[in-house]
Amino acid sequence: MNRLRSKAGLVIALAGALVIPFFLVLGAQRGAGQEKTGGSTKAVKAGQEGTVESHDRTNFPLVGKHRTLGCRECHLNLVFEGTPTDCEVCHWQRRQDDRYGLRLGTRCADCHTPQSWKKVDPAKWNHETDAGFRLEGIHRTLDCEACHGSGGFAPRPTDCYSCHESDYLGTREPNHAEAGFPTSCPSCHSQRAWEDASFNHADFVLQGAHASAACSDCHKNGVYAGTSPACASCHLADYNGTTDPNHSASGFPLDCTECHGTSATGWTGANFDHAFPIQSGRHAVACSECHRTSDYRVFSCLECHAHDQTDMDNEHRGVTGYSYSSQACYSCHPQGNG
Ligand code: HEC
Ligand code: HEC
Ligand code: HEC
Ligand code: HEC
Ligand code: HEC
Ligand code: HEC
Ligand code: HEC
Ligand code: HEC
Ligand code: HEC
Ligand code: HEC
Ligand code: HEC
Ligand code: HEC
Repeated sequence: MNRLRSKAGLVIALAGALVIPFFLVLGAQRGAGQEKTGGSTKAVKAGQEGTVESHDRTNFPLVGKHRTLGCRECHLNLVFEGTPTDCEVCHWQRRQDDRYGLRLGTRCADCHTPQSWKKVDPAKWNHETDAGFRLEGIHRTLDCEACHGSGGFAPRPTDCYSCHESDYLGTREPNHAEAGFPTSCPSCHSQRAWEDASFNHADFVLQGAHASAACSDCHKNGVYAGTSPACASCHLADYNGTTDPNHSASGFPLDCTECHGTSATGWTGANFDHAFPIQSGRHAVACSECHRTSDYRVFSCLECHAHDQTDMDNEHRGVTGYSYSSQACYSCHPQGNG
């Protein structure tokens, strides 16, 4: 019977024929005590074989829950030598612990630590980086089986529609299929709840007066697909109803944005690219001062400059091509200055 015991208390049990009773030297361990081993030469009293701390110097430091265990929970019959270090051997071959029956693989330590089985160490394994699909919101709370079934962890389609087709088809408010909503749910939904939909209306930014309009003001009868972004498709009646200035009589273009912009909150305060400067200076006067009729293609300069035709003519003595007509004034004075 040979027994070596280090000062630190770690004993390397060597061959021995008998189990000899020892009193506990360091015995604070739950597994400590005498042990009959049916003739095993490796069986010893745990108290003599070391402490949790001295165990740190083995190849298998005790961490997490392992640190709280009695020695004999791992060292069956207090046999120390040849104790498996592989998680799988203790937790599957011995104990059948894997809830997923090895369907996630046998290398438990790739995903778990001895802290707890409850959740995997996110640094070791997470569903986004290791499986390729980020679980958020409701999905985090689901059993794996809800998506993977009981057969295994084969890859599943990541496209929302492939799992939520029946939800899409079952919608009533709004009825997605009838509305022509795209089947790319993430453009309006997160994985949290269907109710808090938000739609990035980027093709036709909802700003100005449109920001407060209800979806159904523009998408009549729940029809979304094919809505025209052209202003006149919704505002032709407004255009036709104008009197000051009368747009159709004036031949105003149907692209309202030219004068009203894209973020207008109302129709007043139109601002448009008027080649002849009328925003400031001497010529910042009412439209009708120059546009004497409802046809805005026609304008007059002479209403104001007429009284001094003689002065005008004198002013232009020697100016080739001069004539006393509004078109002529404009063509030589397109900026209304000298
Ligand atoms: C969670 C399981 C576990 C617990 C609990 C545990 N051990 Fe161990 N122990 C091991 C493993 C695994 C090895 C093998 C390490 C290696 O191969 O180097 C080992 C190795 C040893 C060895 C060295 C054996 C050799 O052949 O070198 C001794 C001695 C030992 N443990 C004593 C103890 C004592 C005393 C306790 C209680 C305080 C204890 N162990 C608790 C798992 C455990
Ligand atoms: C590829 C990664 C991976 C591997 C390998 C793996 N597991 Fe898991 N295990 C998980 C995930 C993920 C969960 C679920 C955790 C959750 O619900 O958040 C889990 C859950 C568990 C649970 C259930 C925890 C609970 O109470 O819900 C046990 C027990 C478990 N694993 C044991 C094992 C064992 C034993 C092994 C080795 C034989 C192993 N696992 C291998 C990833 C893995
Ligand atoms: C030598 C056997 C042995 C080895 C190797 C081993 N364990 Fe353990 N482990 C146990 C025993 C025994 C328990 C206590 C049994 C229990 O409480 O379920 C335990 C408990 C645990 C627990 C706590 C379970 C709970 O209920 O809270 C986790 C987590 C765990 N081990 C993970 C691991 C991981 C990960 C590995 C590999 C790195 C590993 N174990 C290696 C024997 C071992
Ligand atoms: C909401 C549905 C959903 C839930 C819940 C879910 N998964 Fe997945 N899982 C997926 C999808 C989708 C993929 C495929 C990702 C890909 O292929 O890009 C996947 C892939 C995987 C893979 C990789 C399969 C392979 O061979 O590539 C593993 C492993 C996995 N999941 C494990 C789990 C575990 C463990 C749980 C429970 C903790 C879980 N999943 C919960 C949807 C889910
Ligand atoms: C692999 C299958 C799978 C994929 C892919 C998937 N889900 Fe799920 N999802 C589920 C399951 C299973 C549930 C829980 C059962 C249910 O409520 O339908 C769920 C639940 C939900 C819920 C909560 C429903 C409720 O009743 O409150 C929302 C929201 C959701 N998913 C959104 C999404 C979105 C958005 C995507 C795409 C990014 C997506 N899901 C992709 C399987 C999937
Ligand atoms: C263009 C935006 C948009 C898209 C794309 C979209 N939804 Fe919705 N969804 C909504 C809006 C808006 C609501 C109403 C939200 C509310 O009630 O607050 C809604 C509500 C829902 C509801 C709850 C209402 C009901 O009648 O049951 C479900 C379920 C739903 N969506 C599923 C889906 C699924 C599944 C997809 C993808 C296949 C999808 N949606 C794609 C905008 C969208
Ligand atoms: C002021 C009018 C207006 C309002 C309000 C409005 N939309 Fe739109 N929407 C449009 C126009 C215009 C388009 C077409 C944009 C394009 O194709 O350039 C459009 C396009 C869409 C599309 C794309 C349809 C397709 O498949 O082509 C969806 C989905 C949509 N809107 C949903 C909504 C939802 C949900 C709301 C309420 C939150 C809303 N819209 C509010 C005017 C509006
Ligand atoms: C799909 C229908 C739709 C389209 C396209 C559309 N609008 Fe509108 N617009 C509305 C609705 C609905 C309102 C709010 C109800 C109302 O005042 O008529 C509104 C309101 C407005 C208002 C405020 C009117 C007021 O009485 O205060 C202005 C200005 C406006 N839109 C300008 C435009 C311009 C400019 C465009 C082109 C870029 C445009 N709209 C395209 C539907 C549309
Ligand atoms: C060439 C410039 C121009 C274009 C293009 C234009 N407008 Fe105007 N609009 C104006 C001006 C200038 C006013 C007067 C602004 C003021 O009173 O502050 C005005 C005023 C209006 C008014 C209020 C005046 C009234 O008589 O009711 C409405 C409604 C209106 N526009 C609708 C439209 C619509 C709809 C479109 C496109 C389909 C459009 N406009 C295109 C220049 C334009
Ligand atoms: C001081 C004189 C003057 C005033 C004031 C004036 N205009 Fe003009 N307008 C012109 C001249 C000159 C042109 C031709 C050159 C040009 O396009 O700017 C013109 C051209 C136009 C046209 C282009 C018609 C076409 O050929 O398609 C529109 C529309 C117009 N004006 C609208 C207005 C409106 C609306 C106002 C008032 C906000 C206004 N104008 C005020 C002188 C004036
Ligand atoms: C509402 C009256 C009014 C109308 C209409 C009018 N003007 Fe004038 N304009 C004035 C006044 C006032 C002045 C400054 C006094 C002056 O020089 O006679 C002026 C000055 C000018 C000047 C000289 C600017 C300078 O640098 O001294 C030119 C050139 C001119 N106008 C061109 C035009 C043209 C071209 C038109 C027609 C498109 C036009 N005006 C229409 C009132 C008007
Ligand atoms: C063929 C080109 C031409 C035409 C047409 C023309 N002008 Fe002139 N105008 C000129 C030139 C060049 C001058 C500078 C003369 C000088 O300073 O000797 C001038 C000078 C003026 C001035 C004086 C500017 C100053 O700086 O004192 C006014 C005001 C004016 N023009 C208005 C008009 C009006 C109103 C009309 C239309 C009835 C008109 N012009 C038609 C070329 C023209």
